[in-house]
Amino acid sequence: MTADAISLSPLPPLRIGDYTIPVPIIQGGMGIRVSAHRLAAAVGNEGGAGVIATVALSLASQYYQKGKDYFRANIKALADELAWARELSPTGIIGTNCMVAIRDFEDMVRTSVEHGAQLIISGAGLPLRLPEFAASRPQTALVPIISSLRAAKLLTKRWSKLYKRIPDAMVFEDPNTAGGHLGLNRSELFSPEYSTERVVPQLVEWSRKEYGDEIPIITAGGIWDRQDIDHALDLGAKGVQMASRFICTFECDAAESFKETFIKAGEGDVVIVDSPAGLPGRALLSPFTSKLFRGSEVYSKCFATCLEACRCREEKETFCIAEALHRAQQGDLEEGLIFTGTNAVRHKRMMHVWEIFQELTGRKSPNACP
Ligand SMILES: Cc1cc2nc3c(=O)[nH]c(=O)nc-3n(C[C@H](O)[C@H](O)[C@H](O)COP(=O)(O)O)c2cc1C
Repeated sequence: MTADAISLSPLPPLRIGDYTIPVPIIQGGMGIRVSAHRLAAAVGNEGGAGVIATVALSLASQYYQKGKDYFRANIKALADELAWARELSPTGIIGTNCMVAIRDFEDMVRTSVEHGAQLIISGAGLPLRLPEFAASRPQTALVPIISSLRAAKLLTKRWSKLYKRIPDAMVFEDPNTAGGHLGLNRSELFSPEYSTERVVPQLVEWSRKEYGDEIPIITAGGIWDRQDIDHALDLGAKGVQMASRFICTFECDAAESFKETFIKAGEGDVVIVDSPAGLPGRALLSPFTSKLFRGSEVYSKCFATCLEACRCREEKETFCIAEALHRAQQGDLEEGLIFTGTNAVRHKRMMHVWEIFQELTGRKSPNACP
């Protein structure tokens, strides 16, 4: 059955700050340049929120040369990405993902705001100073990623006290299923205590009681089909953030061979690696992860000092994550690290972003090929 033949109830729009996202789907930021302007614009054009991951954007840009100013190049590359996304999607909602653990977090936030990002989604640490860095454009919605009610309370209290501002929404990322860096220690992974089913209702209840429902809760991790979205909404979430689902799309900004790896993946091919950022990361089994597990030598020369705290730079342990993710995005699957959520194995073929939206909403996309 084709997606447009399925009759589905309409999904409610997602309101975040000044913005209404017609379809309550945020595309999760995927660094390094797995989600850049092409993917973000395609999602924006379908009525979701497209998100450019800001980490290390410069690495394949005209602005970066080895040994030169990596951080300055990132600023220029982000400005370009935002402008290109806006060109491709003049009316879509476009935001950025800025990671606290990155040394140019402040620059990435300031540049996002200056170049018109409508949302900033921020995790990999608690974005305690985000309102300060984004202050020049108050209409940019600020959306922290958290992994517990405790973190949500702490952050909101701090923002209220220091900045007289509360988050415009919050993304709960389920460490049991999400891709990339996970906000828990290895020993805490796979605990029901941190699952969507446990934490989302707690957050929803807290937002309703303490903030009159003004902080919409968005859930991320393991969302693939309409059933998953309906389940998230039943738990009280107002929207979902989906990342892995968008990897095998023609519009995803990674190399074709990167995407093909997902189509070939089978059960048991999703693994946990120890990232130099000091967090576990979920990735696809690959020659690179096999080398890591065997203890063979992998690329470990720090070239950009990109992370605030880095075991590769400081303790000469693990590997250079910027290089490993960059290589994967470029299609070097021998030396590249491929981040993914647990849903990696569900990819069967390449799709257009409009096909995915058509399947999830049951509505014919205005961008569908005839
Ligand atoms: C390839 C890849 C790269 C990611 N990079 C980032 C990132 O740069 N910043 C971030 O906050 N989250 C990152 N994530 C996490 C996603 O934004 C998202 O929250 C999570 O993967 C949701 O789970 P799902 O992939 O099952 O949909 C990444 C995930 C993947 C799969």
